[in-house]
Amino acid sequence: MIDNNRKDNKFGSPLMFDLVIANGKIITSTSVTLGDIGIKDGKIAALGQDLEGARVIDAAGRLVTPGAVDTHVHLEMPIGKYTSTDDFYTGTRAAVYGGTTSIIDFVESRQAQTFSDALEERRAPAAARSVIDYGFHMTIGPDDLEKLEQIPEIMEAGCGSFKLYMAYGLHLRDDQLYKALSAVGKAGGLPVVHAENWDIICALIEENIAKGNTSPHWHPRSRPEEFEAEAAGRVIQIAGQAGSRVHIFHVSCPQVVEEISKARAQGLPVTAETCPQYLLLTQDLYDREGVEGALPICSPPLRSDNSRRELWQAVGSGLFDTISTDHCPFCREEKAADLSAFNKIPGGIPSMEIRFSAMYSEGVGKELISESEWVDLCCTTPARLFGLKQKGEIAIGRDADIIIFDPEKEWTVTPDELQESAGWTPYEGIKLKGRPEYTISRGEILLEKGEFKAEKGRGLFQKTETKG
Ligand code: URP
Ligand code: ZN
Ligand code: ZN
Repeated sequence: MIDNNRKDNKFGSPLMFDLVIANGKIITSTSVTLGDIGIKDGKIAALGQDLEGARVIDAAGRLVTPGAVDTHVHLEMPIGKYTSTDDFYTGTRAAVYGGTTSIIDFVESRQAQTFSDALEERRAPAAARSVIDYGFHMTIGPDDLEKLEQIPEIMEAGCGSFKLYMAYGLHLRDDQLYKALSAVGKAGGLPVVHAENWDIICALIEENIAKGNTSPHWHPRSRPEEFEAEAAGRVIQIAGQAGSRVHIFHVSCPQVVEEISKARAQGLPVTAETCPQYLLLTQDLYDREGVEGALPICSPPLRSDNSRRELWQAVGSGLFDTISTDHCPFCREEKAADLSAFNKIPGGIPSMEIRFSAMYSEGVGKELISESEWVDLCCTTPARLFGLKQKGEIAIGRDADIIIFDPEKEWTVTPDELQESAGWTPYEGIKLKGRPEYTISRGEILLEKGEFKAEKGRGLFQKTETKG
């Protein structure tokens, strides 16, 4: 690849563009073209041929895509007695290596705290450390139902999506779900839901532990596919009754896919996300000895290989709107701290850095999705659905968030290959083809052939404008 650094053109006049990405195969969600992108003042200023710029990167032989958008990450997030291992710096640095230029994380408010104050509080560490742009979902837990009238105000402040849990301590009962969904629906926001049947899960965990079934092998067996599907089907119907759309997070199995298809056939407005872990990994990882079996604990759990294959078919048939990560890593020591029972192990795994490459390699590479579908699932629809108005598209006027992707680069995932701070990866040993070579955010090169160039705290808060 030739890389010119030029201050002016052959006529001695100032160049029109700050940066030109030349001769690349430009992939958007609707087109594939060969050409140049001209960038000026951090924006995409032109699409064409033979553009001239102060700097020109020759992207011949490379794919040029929008920066990927990960709408489901948990950075430096306190969960129980631990805090997820990647903070806003290490997590977003890993994102840059993986070709992601925008993320959406979460805000949780304390009982006596307004949504606005909680958002301000959560924005501070992101502003201090994030190297890419970021937005937030607002969590509505059982103690937040008196705050529902604050929804329009927090949407104005830039939180357009609302996280509702049907599992864990934050889970909402059906009546509470109905109230929250009604309020979010009325304000035009987007509810995002962790759908699992918590009562049944608690009963199955108790039953298994009483029988001495304490190893991670019993984690997926205490969270059956049927009860992820039941919860998803239930919340979709509740949302329908409440007059709200709903986005189902981290769909792990084909039974949920069926519920979503049925609801859509009924005309209910439901969108859905799946994640790389459910497309690349399977539940037999829980059968490894000691901490190795504990490491991939996450919820919903990894499923069978049949389920994984069927999930890919659903991706290929266009059922999913987004592929995000649910990146929520814990280090080996935290995973190993209490192996006396599977439900004591902190849940969550890292995926942020491999997502874009993995979806290319396993999806496009194996002809399960097209290049444009890859871009749509990882970049364009996530940005559109969550109202990141400047992101997710290669179009004039948009932020120049761009990835130059080497489709031929073969690599094996190992912890040493990754920037994520967990020190382990559930994808260890998986061979991938395709990797970002340049990551560009608002016209600034953050990653250049393995060299990281971003300044800590350069990321900017982005409003998620989901209304209308
Ligand atoms: O186990 C997981 N997925 N932890 C992160 C929190 C969540 O459920 O999204
Ligand atoms: Zn979840
Ligand atoms: Zn999550």
